[in-house]
Amino acid sequence: MSGVKLKTVVWILLTGLFVICSKVEGLGVNWGTMATHKMDPKTVVQMMVDNGINKVKLFDAEQSTMSALAGTGVEVMIAIPNDQLAAMNDYSRAKKFVQRNVTRYNFNGGVNIKYVAVGNEPYLKSYNGSFSKTTFPALQNIQNALNEAGLGDKIKATVPSNADVYGSPTDNPVPSAGRFRPDINDQMVQLVQFLAQNNAPFTVNIYPFLSLYGNDDFPIDFAFFDGAPQPVVDNGIQYTNVFDANYDTLVSALKAAGFGDMPIIVGEVGWPTDGDKNANINMAYRFYNGLLPRLAANKGTPLRPGPIEVYLFGLIDEDAKSIAPGSFERHWGIFRYDGQPKFGMDISGRGQNAMLVPARNVRYQEKKWCQFNPNAKDLSKLGENINFACTFADCTPLGYGSSCNGLDANANASYAFNAYFQVQNQDEMACNFQGLAMVTTLNISTETCSFNIQIVGTYSSASRISVYLFVYLIVLVIFAL
Ligand SMILES: *[C@@H]1O[C@H](CO)[C@@H](O)[C@H](O)[C@H]1NC(C)=O
Ligand SMILES: *[C@@H]1O[C@H](CO)[C@@H](O)[C@H](O)[C@H]1NC(C)=O
Ligand SMILES: *[C@@H]1O[C@H](CO)[C@@H](O)[C@H](O)[C@H]1NC(C)=O
Ligand SMILES: *[C@@H]1O[C@H](CO)[C@@H](O)[C@H](O)[C@H]1NC(C)=O
Repeated sequence: MSGVKLKTVVWILLTGLFVICSKVEGLGVNWGTMATHKMDPKTVVQMMVDNGINKVKLFDAEQSTMSALAGTGVEVMIAIPNDQLAAMNDYSRAKKFVQRNVTRYNFNGGVNIKYVAVGNEPYLKSYNGSFSKTTFPALQNIQNALNEAGLGDKIKATVPSNADVYGSPTDNPVPSAGRFRPDINDQMVQLVQFLAQNNAPFTVNIYPFLSLYGNDDFPIDFAFFDGAPQPVVDNGIQYTNVFDANYDTLVSALKAAGFGDMPIIVGEVGWPTDGDKNANINMAYRFYNGLLPRLAANKGTPLRPGPIEVYLFGLIDEDAKSIAPGSFERHWGIFRYDGQPKFGMDISGRGQNAMLVPARNVRYQEKKWCQFNPNAKDLSKLGENINFACTFADCTPLGYGSSCNGLDANANASYAFNAYFQVQNQDEMACNFQGLAMVTTLNISTETCSFNIQIVGTYSSASRISVYLFVYLIVLVIFAL
C-alpha cells in the first residue's frame, strides 16, 4: 500500500515539476470569443493552466472572463475594441473604463492585468483611416488614467498593430530598410514617443500565413522555420524566415523613429488549420514545430537577440468570426471549438512529440446529426436552403482547399444542414429545410471532414440563477419533510 502511495506521490511531484519547467518563457495565447457555443470561461482558464500557459491576451474585458481569471495569477492583456476608441477620447470616459475594468480587479486574489490593448489593428489599411484620428488620444487617455490611478508603473497601455503599419514587403525590400508607412508616419512617431515616455511596449501582429495567402509567388519555405533555399541577405545577415525579417523590419522602423531599443511584444502569431489550401493541420504543425523551439532558445532575431514576448493566435476556434479577411479566420485555434487539441504541439519548445492537455468536463449535445434527405423529390429549393444554413452557421470547411471540399453534392448539403442544426442546439425544427433534411443518429463524418456535434454552451446567468433557486427549493422541501 505505502509503496504504491509513495510511487503516486513521486509521480505527482515529477509531473508537477514537469509542468512548472515546461514553458517557453513569456509565451501567451489570444483568447477570442466569437463563437456560437462558448466553453465555460472557467473551463478555458483551467485548460490554460493545465498546459502551463500563464499569459493571455483578450479582445475585451468581459466580466465572466475576468472572474474566471481572478486568483489564477495568469498575466492578462485586456482590450478596448476599435468601436470604443472614439468614446475613449473623452478623459472622464477613459477614467471610467480604468475604474470599472482595471482598478476593480486590482486586489490580492484579483486579476493580474499587465496591459491594456487600445484598439485592435486600428491602422489597418483596409479600415481606410476610420480609427486613425481616435487611436492616439484614446491611448493617451487610458495610460494617463492608469497613471492617475497609481497603476501606471505596473500596467501599460499599448496599441496592437498589424505589420502593415510598416508597409508591404515591396516597400521594405530588406529588414534594415524598414520604415513606417508614409501615410501614417507622423502618427506612428507620435505614438512611439508616447509609449517610450511611459516605458510601454510596441505591440505588433506578425502573420507568415498571410504573407503566403493570396500570393502564389511567395517562397513557401520562407513562411516556416526549417530553412529557405534562397535567404534574404541584408548587410551580411541571412534571413531564412519571414517572421525574423518582419520583426527586424519593425526594429528598423523604430530605430528610424528614434527608439531602436523600444520593447516589442508580438501580439499575435499562428497558423490556421482550415479554410484555405495553405491552412491545414500539417502546415500548422510545421509552423509551430519551428516557432516554439526558436522561442524556447531565447535567441531572438538578428537585430534583437534575446527572449521575445509572444502571444499565439489563437487559443480556440471561433465559428462566428467575420470571414471578410478569408475563410481561414474561423480556424486559428490550437484547440478545436470544444477544447480538443488539433495536432501534436510541444509548448515547452523542446520539440518533443507532446500533445496539449484537452479541456476537462466539456459537455456535448446528443449524438444526433442533420443530413440531406435522400428521398427528397423537389430539389429546386436546395441551393436556397444551403445558403440559408450557411448564413447562420459555419460552412467554411466546404470551400476550395478546405477539409470538406471533396464531398459530393448530397454530402455538401448535409454538411450545411448539420452545421445549422448544431448551432440551433439540435432543435428538430432546424432540421427540416422544406423537407430536404432529416435527423440521423449515424455519424456522417468522413475521414477528412468532421461533422461536428456542438457543445452545451455556457449557461446565461439568468438560467444559472434559476438552477440555484430550484436546488434551493428542493433542499427546503427535503428539510420540511
Ligand atoms: C468594461 O469592459 C466591458 C467589456 O469589454 C465593456 O463592455 C464596458 O463598456 C467597459 N466599461 C467601461 C466603463 O468602459
Ligand atoms: C474602404 O474603402 C474601400 C474602397 O473605397 C471600400 O470598398 C471599403 O468598404 C472601405 N472599408 C471601410 C472599412 O470603410
Ligand atoms: C460543395 O459546396 C462548395 C461550397 O459551397 C462548392 O464549392 C462545391 O462546388 C460543392 N460541391 C458539389 C459537388 O456540389
Ligand atoms: C464521428 O466520426 C469522426 C470520424 O470518424 C470522429 O472523429 C468523431 O469523434 C465522431 N463523432 C462522434 C460524436 O462520435
